[in-house]
Amino acid sequence: MAKYSIAWMPGDGIGNDVMGAARLVLDAMGLDAEYPHCDIGWEFWCNEGNALPDRTIKALRGTTCGLFGAITSKPQDEAKEELIPELKGTGLVYFSPIVKLRQLFNLHTNIRPCKSYPGNPLNYRGNQITNPGGGEVMIDQVVFRENTEGSYGGVEFHPLPEGVYTALCANPKMKPWKDKGLENVALSTRIVSKQGCTSICRQAFEFAKQTGRKRVTLVEKPNVLRETGGLMTRCFRELAKSYPDIWADEANIDAICMWMFKNPQDYSVLVAENMFGDIISDLCAGLVGGLGFAPSGNMGDKYAVFEPTHGSAPKYAGQFKVNPIAMLLTAKMMLEWLKETDKATRLEAAVARVIKEGKVRTYDMGGKASTMDVAKEVVRYAS
Ligand code: NAI
Ligand code: MG
Repeated sequence: MAKYSIAWMPGDGIGNDVMGAARLVLDAMGLDAEYPHCDIGWEFWCNEGNALPDRTIKALRGTTCGLFGAITSKPQDEAKEELIPELKGTGLVYFSPIVKLRQLFNLHTNIRPCKSYPGNPLNYRGNQITNPGGGEVMIDQVVFRENTEGSYGGVEFHPLPEGVYTALCANPKMKPWKDKGLENVALSTRIVSKQGCTSICRQAFEFAKQTGRKRVTLVEKPNVLRETGGLMTRCFRELAKSYPDIWADEANIDAICMWMFKNPQDYSVLVAENMFGDIISDLCAGLVGGLGFAPSGNMGDKYAVFEPTHGSAPKYAGQFKVNPIAMLLTAKMMLEWLKETDKATRLEAAVARVIKEGKVRTYDMGGKASTMDVAKEVVRYAS
């Protein structure tokens, strides 16, 4: 029996392409693992009315961790249109399987590192004033995103149930909404807990402490989102007291988008609620070369699912054209979590060397190489 059982979830579109690259590298590095295939994604929504079949949930429970490619998600109306005829009109509701997975397995923490590797032609170069000469700006940021609560907690209504509408209308601020009628109003909630806020902030501070990082920035908007943003800010400030050597800094989500663009090298660890973490991590990805370079891990207390930040990029599906580096750095995060430290270090070093040498590059880096060409080049240096 292999040492690890890794749930293999390619999902949709380029998920399959980049997972092929990951497998090539993991096998070449001799990871002692078996990879049970698990169904997830759009095909299973269309044919079975469930993008995360029960058999997948059951299979995952018997594995060490999961590796996931990407899924395609569509708005509710479009999703219903694509169901097979037998399932149309049966009242099935689409939900994102990766969001469900995070909630079901309590994968409360999403870690998204974004690092510029020297020699990447896509590295951020800033502007002439902050960066005269236009050399590479070296960025090394890690986003800690709360992964189960907040704006993506999944508590949404349209139309509003009578009881919810009545309760809301008791609030004088709802007066202008009252006249619009319950069938014309949609509601998406942002629910956060003290436990959730404290946990994500603590992990950000702990990570900073363990890795010698000096700044942790909370990304929120407490001046407008007074209750949820306020609770998160209080939890952050309370925890900060236990980490006197770390600069606990606070920024509004809108302002930090501007500041990160101007001075990205100043930021190190960022911590945020679910949606703000999603937004800010795409910005970080953009600063280090785009979604082809952004890995992530969904971490729980005992289980984790690793996935690149990017989606299924349907227009490139099956062409083996996209950059596998985000996926390979995701595999590196998984190796770290498995405490396969030597393999993790070798894999990252190999990726860095391939980027620096610049001989084998996918289209996004200005090259013509395929997904698998890059993986093979990484294997040359990693194994
Ligand atoms: P996307 O991330 O799939 O692609 C956006 C663009 O980014 C692509 O067209 C491509 O130009 C570039 N890109 C992405 N990955 C790349 C890679 N590895 N190498 C080079 N270039 C890359 O986002 P989009 O187009 O907004 O969404 C497509 C589908 O993916 C949607 O159905 C969406 O719901 C889903 N999605 C799924 C996610 C997940 O599985 N966790 C996350 C984000 C989107
Ligand atoms: Mg995103």
